[in-house]
Amino acid sequence: MSKINSFEEYKTEYKRSVEHPELFWAEQAETFVWQKKWDEVLNWNFKEPKIEWFVNGKLNITENCLDRHLPERANQIAYYWEPNSPDEKAVEHTYQQLQEQVCKFANVLKNNGAKKGDRVCIYMPMVPELAIALLACARIGAVHSVVFGGFSASALSGRIQDCDCKIVVTTDGAYRGAKDIPIKDIVDEALEICPAVEKVIVVQRTDTFIKMLEGRDVLWVDEMEKVNADCPAEPMDAEDLLFILYTSGSTGKPKGVVHTCGGYMVYTHYTFQNVFQYRDKEVYWCTADIGWITGHSYIVYAPLLAGASSVMYEGIPTYPDAGRFWKIIDKYKVNIFYTAPTAIRALESAGEHFIKPYKLNSLRVLGSVGEPINEEAWNWYNQNIGKGKCPIVDTWWQTETGGMLISPLAGITKTKPSFATLPLPGVQPVIVDEKGNEIEGNGVEGNLCIKFPWPSMLRTTYGDHERCYQNYFATYPNLYFTGDGCKRDEDGYYRITGRVDDVMNVSGHRIGTAEVESAINMHIDIVESAVVAYPHDIKGQGIYAYVICTNHNKNHESLRMEILAEVTKMIGAIAKPDKIQVVNGLPKTRSGKIMRRILRKIAEGETSNLGDISTLIDPSVVEEIKNGAL
Ligand code: PRX
Repeated sequence: MSKINSFEEYKTEYKRSVEHPELFWAEQAETFVWQKKWDEVLNWNFKEPKIEWFVNGKLNITENCLDRHLPERANQIAYYWEPNSPDEKAVEHTYQQLQEQVCKFANVLKNNGAKKGDRVCIYMPMVPELAIALLACARIGAVHSVVFGGFSASALSGRIQDCDCKIVVTTDGAYRGAKDIPIKDIVDEALEICPAVEKVIVVQRTDTFIKMLEGRDVLWVDEMEKVNADCPAEPMDAEDLLFILYTSGSTGKPKGVVHTCGGYMVYTHYTFQNVFQYRDKEVYWCTADIGWITGHSYIVYAPLLAGASSVMYEGIPTYPDAGRFWKIIDKYKVNIFYTAPTAIRALESAGEHFIKPYKLNSLRVLGSVGEPINEEAWNWYNQNIGKGKCPIVDTWWQTETGGMLISPLAGITKTKPSFATLPLPGVQPVIVDEKGNEIEGNGVEGNLCIKFPWPSMLRTTYGDHERCYQNYFATYPNLYFTGDGCKRDEDGYYRITGRVDDVMNVSGHRIGTAEVESAINMHIDIVESAVVAYPHDIKGQGIYAYVICTNHNKNHESLRMEILAEVTKMIGAIAKPDKIQVVNGLPKTRSGKIMRRILRKIAEGETSNLGDISTLIDPSVVEEIKNGAL
C-alpha cells in the first residue's frame, strides 16, 4: 500500500490518480491477497448507475484482515477491548486469537444455516463479539447488516424485513454508562413480525434473564463449543456484497446502502494508511460505534487490513465521568484518536479539570468525523487534547462513500480549523449550482458532487436500484450528489457546510425529517407535523417539531412526553425532538408543500427576514407560529 510522505507527493499522487485512475488503483490493489486477479480495473456509468471495480477478481477480505498477518503478527494485539465500567477487566485479542474466533464463529454461522449471500442482522453493543461477527459473515460470504444498538424494536424489524435476514446475532443486554439495556427483549419484540428469522445467536454480556425461544434461540458460548477454528475463506467476487448498512434519506424509509468486497477493501485501507499516516505498532482508537459506517470502515476493516492495534470501547464518553476518554488514551498510550465533534463539544463543556489528571502525551494524530466541526471545538481539541502538537484530520465522508473522501493527510496537509481541506487521491469533487452547472474556481459555494467513481462508493440501495439512482445520480446528470453543501475557499480548500436536503445530523447521527414526522404522526391526537433541524451547542443540530394536535384539551406536557415516547418506540431515543411546538397550521404552498425554509428560520430564532411568504395558502399561520416559538 503506497504511502504519501510529503505534500509534493500528495500533489503528484493526486494528479496521477485523476489522469490514470485505473493504473493508480490497480497498483494499490496489487498489495492485497487476491485468490484470482481482476480482468478489468473499472467498468462504470452513472446513468444506471453501474459501478464495478476489479472486475472478476476473487478475494476474501478476512484473508487480508487476518490470515495475511500471520504468523508475523500472531502475538500483536488486534483489539484492546475496554469495558463500560473501568472496574471490569479489559480483554485483549491478538491477531492469532481474532483469526481463530472469527473462523470458529464462521463455522457457527454455517451450522446455523448461513450460506454465501444470506443476510445476517447484527444488533449488539460494542463488545469484541461484534467485530468477530462481522468478520465471520465476511469469511463465509454472508452479508452483514449491522443495526445500531440504540434503534428501537420497530426500526430493527423494518431493517430485518427489508433485506430478509434469516439470522440475528445479538446479546442478552448492554451496558451503556449507568444504563443496562435489555437488548434481547428488543430483539424478541422486533421478531414478532419477522417470521423469516430462523436463528438468533445470543452473546451473554450482562447475564440478565432472557427468554430463549426453543428451536430459534441459541447461545454463542454453546455454539462455539461445537466447532473448530478451521474455516476456509469463501472466494468472493470483487463485486459480491460485503454488507448492507441502513441510513436515513429525505424520504421516510431508511435505505440499505450496499458495499461490495474488492473496492471497499482497497479504498478503506488506502485512506486509513494515508490520512492517519499510520505507523507500524501504533495504537489507534476510533470512538465510533460499529453500528455506523465509521465503525465498519475504521474500527473493523481498515485497521485490520493495515495490521494495526486498536482500542475498542464499550461505553460512553462521560461515564463514570467526563475524563474517561482521556483516561483510556493514557492507559493504552493511544497514538491516533478519532472521534466526533459532538463528543468534543460535550467534553469541552464538562470543563478542563477532567483533562488535567491525564498526560495525553502518546497522542500524535487527532481525527474528527460525522459532522462539521466548528472552529471553537477545533481549537479546543487542538489546544487541550493535542497540546498544539497533533495534526487534526477533519475527515469528510458518508455511509455511501464507504471511506473518507475529503481530508487532510496528518502532518502533511496544512490544516485550517473547520476545513476538511483537500480531496484524497482518486476523488474528484465538483461544486454545482441549483441547476447543476459546475462552479469553477476558488472562493465559491454550492452543492457538493463527485464526478468520477472511487473504489468504495455504494453500488446500489438494497432491493431498489432505482431508488439509488433517484437519490444520488438523478439530481445532476453524470454526477454523484452528496446531499451536502460546501464552500471552496481561495486556497481551494473545502469546507462542508452541512446537508442541503431533508436530512438532519444530530450528534453525528443521520436522521431524516420524514422519519421523525411519521413517528410523531403515529400519536393519536396528532394530525400533522413538520420537523426541522436547528443549531444546538452540543449536538450540532437539535430537532424541532411543529405539531398540529386535534385534542384541544390536551395538556402540553403530557402531549410532549407521549410524542417523545412514540419517537423512541418507532425509531429510538436518538431521534427524540428537543423542542415541540403545538401549532394550528403549517406554512404550505398552494400545491400543499410545507415551506420548511420558514420553519427552519423560526426554529433558529430568526423572526424577521423570513423571505417571501406570499405564495403560502394562509400566510397568517406564520405570524402565529412566530409568536409561539420556543
Ligand atoms: O453531512 C455530512 C456529515 O455527515 C453526513 C454523512 O453521515 P453518515 O452517512 O452518517 O456518515 C457519517 C460518518 C462518515 C455527510 O453527508 N459529515 C460527515 N463528516 C463530516 C460531515 N460534515 C462535515 N465535516 C465532516 N468531516
